[in-house]
Amino acid sequence: MSWESELDLARAAAALAGKTLCKLVGHPKKVLSAEGKDIKIQADRDAEHLILEKLGETEYPILAEESGEHGQCDTSDAFWVVDPLDGTMNFTRDLPMNCVSIALCSEGDPVLGVVYDFNRDECFHGIVGQGAGMNDAPISVSATLERSQAVLATGFPAKSAFDRDTLDAFVSCVQQFKKIRMLGTAALSLAYVACGRVDVYLEDEIMLWDVAAGIALVEAAGGVVDSEPSKRGDWVRKVRCAARAELFPGK
Ligand code: IPD
Ligand code: CA
Repeated sequence: MSWESELDLARAAAALAGKTLCKLVGHPKKVLSAEGKDIKIQADRDAEHLILEKLGETEYPILAEESGEHGQCDTSDAFWVVDPLDGTMNFTRDLPMNCVSIALCSEGDPVLGVVYDFNRDECFHGIVGQGAGMNDAPISVSATLERSQAVLATGFPAKSAFDRDTLDAFVSCVQQFKKIRMLGTAALSLAYVACGRVDVYLEDEIMLWDVAAGIALVEAAGGVVDSEPSKRGDWVRKVRCAARAELFPGK
């Protein structure tokens, strides 16, 4: 499969949602729920509605963060994965690090990804095995060779534990890198690995819709991906992505 028409459709859907989200920047956001460390706003739902309508032009089932499964994703050969707004907390505070994220998974793995940063009008897109781009220019991962020179993007997922052991393991991991960045959006962090702005992305207990498009981008841009497959019907993942495998953290 070449997946080119699916990529065009995903780009069109992301552009539609991005246009709507962009209009809300600088305005108060309607908060629908704020449980634990998660937050949901009306804009998440509105953007998702637009994307679902557009992707509905295909037959593929859709897994969407706000509304769940449309069709049988876990038994289907190919399905869409949608995060209408990654970086919702940033968005509510007008921190300009957020994006729309759309992937197509085939046989369980992301094969194409679109991450649209509507704040900067940067559309990252890629098809595994066929290359990646940002707007009209090709992109590739960085040439950084050593962890001690590498920039790590990571985060604490909404469902993360904050006990002493988890935090100790986190510290010994991040100490191995030159710099650490927590952007508040997994999808954009992965797009930045794909284009070489950062070198490594790590996050445990992250939801598939946060990372599926970014995983496809990193692979398409020549990077390496280590993503533990989710259980059937369970969309939680442990993800490590980097420009090269030597940059993955050691013990
Ligand atoms: C969040 C972001 C963040 C990650 C959280 C996610 P959302 O997604 O991707 O980087 O650390 O676990 O929930 O809620 O803004 O779509
Ligand atoms: Ca989201």
